[in-house]
Amino acid sequence: MTETVKIFDTTLRDGEQSPGCTMNLKEKLQVARQLEKLNADIIEAGFAASSKGDFTSIEEISKIVTNATVAGLSRLVENDIDLSFDALKNAQNPRLHLFIATSPIHMQYKLKMSPDEVLSSIENSVKYAKTKFSDIEFSAEDATRSEFDFLIRALNTAIKAGATTINIPDTVGYSTPLEFSAFISKILENIVSPEKITLSVHCHNDLGLATANSLAAVKSGARQVECTINGIGERAGNAAMEEIVMALNVRNNFYNAKTGINTQFIVPSSRTVSAVTGSVVQPNKAIVGKNAFLHEAGIHQHGVMENKATYEIMTPEEVGYKEQQLILGKHSGRHAFENWLAENNHVVTKEEEKELFKKFKQLCDKKKTITERDLEALVQNKISVG
Ligand code: KIV
Ligand code: ZN
Repeated sequence: MTETVKIFDTTLRDGEQSPGCTMNLKEKLQVARQLEKLNADIIEAGFAASSKGDFTSIEEISKIVTNATVAGLSRLVENDIDLSFDALKNAQNPRLHLFIATSPIHMQYKLKMSPDEVLSSIENSVKYAKTKFSDIEFSAEDATRSEFDFLIRALNTAIKAGATTINIPDTVGYSTPLEFSAFISKILENIVSPEKITLSVHCHNDLGLATANSLAAVKSGARQVECTINGIGERAGNAAMEEIVMALNVRNNFYNAKTGINTQFIVPSSRTVSAVTGSVVQPNKAIVGKNAFLHEAGIHQHGVMENKATYEIMTPEEVGYKEQQLILGKHSGRHAFENWLAENNHVVTKEEEKELFKKFKQLCDKKKTITERDLEALVQNKISVG
């Protein structure tokens, strides 16, 4: 039976923490609407205690979101919890996302707290939060660099105090897939009542492994993945939502797990996030990069024309591209050129076609990118190549 993996989108919180990706309220609402169209399960709208702007964003997003759960991030501090409660008061399904670091380096240098102090803070804060929220997520920040026995004590303390989702962040993108998969299995074997909670993962991309690690965790039983559109986030970013979703779709036979994401909104959402943050998506970015479905080499173009599955493991339409894109360039073959002529209603004789193709190839040697306009001009004899 296919299992369901919840998508917890943190574009508006961790994503916004990317250098230069700050969004204003209007832009955040635009992204939130897009996330609802995508059918994200949980939308992390911000960190209420971090600024007045974040508080207002959570408040306004809570008013417009009707299907998804809206989450607010909070430290283990009563004032933070109260602010999150106020900001989320209009949410139909509010979630409090509590976090504290559990690794020796974070406890010593950042928190300046002993392990016992961290444990009592977890117990007290989750219990306090439980008087206000029924849906509580607890994150053990820097979990992958924590001592395993202490991590389990921290997670069990949170579960016993009332947390309903337990999140394992690879905060500094330190883990690797085989290791992370084993880590998640071992956590599920050691926590109390694993059947009563949802195990979540939150992977950063410092080694370029955020998607691979998240998928490895799903294979081991994680049932919530935290991610962002286009993979934006602190430093090298978070796991990219589009990659997780499409990997689980395309390789469902291997993972036996799927998300509820409406994939046809992936590309439009990627464009919205890129436009509002000003963060340009690299051309070869999986799924949403402008080259992700382009076939330049003649052999590839010919193959795709005969049967798309020769070089496409998913269709561009499935992720929201309007049409299949073939670009003509230096490596394009006669088939692609013929196809372009036919699609653009240019009826030419075999002789003319041969001549045009020759000119097209000469043009390719001169120009790096051949545009639709160049091709039109070539056919209309407005370009003389020589
Ligand atoms: O990366 C991280 O550890 C976080 C937590 C707040 C979940 O973003
Ligand atoms: Zn993070």
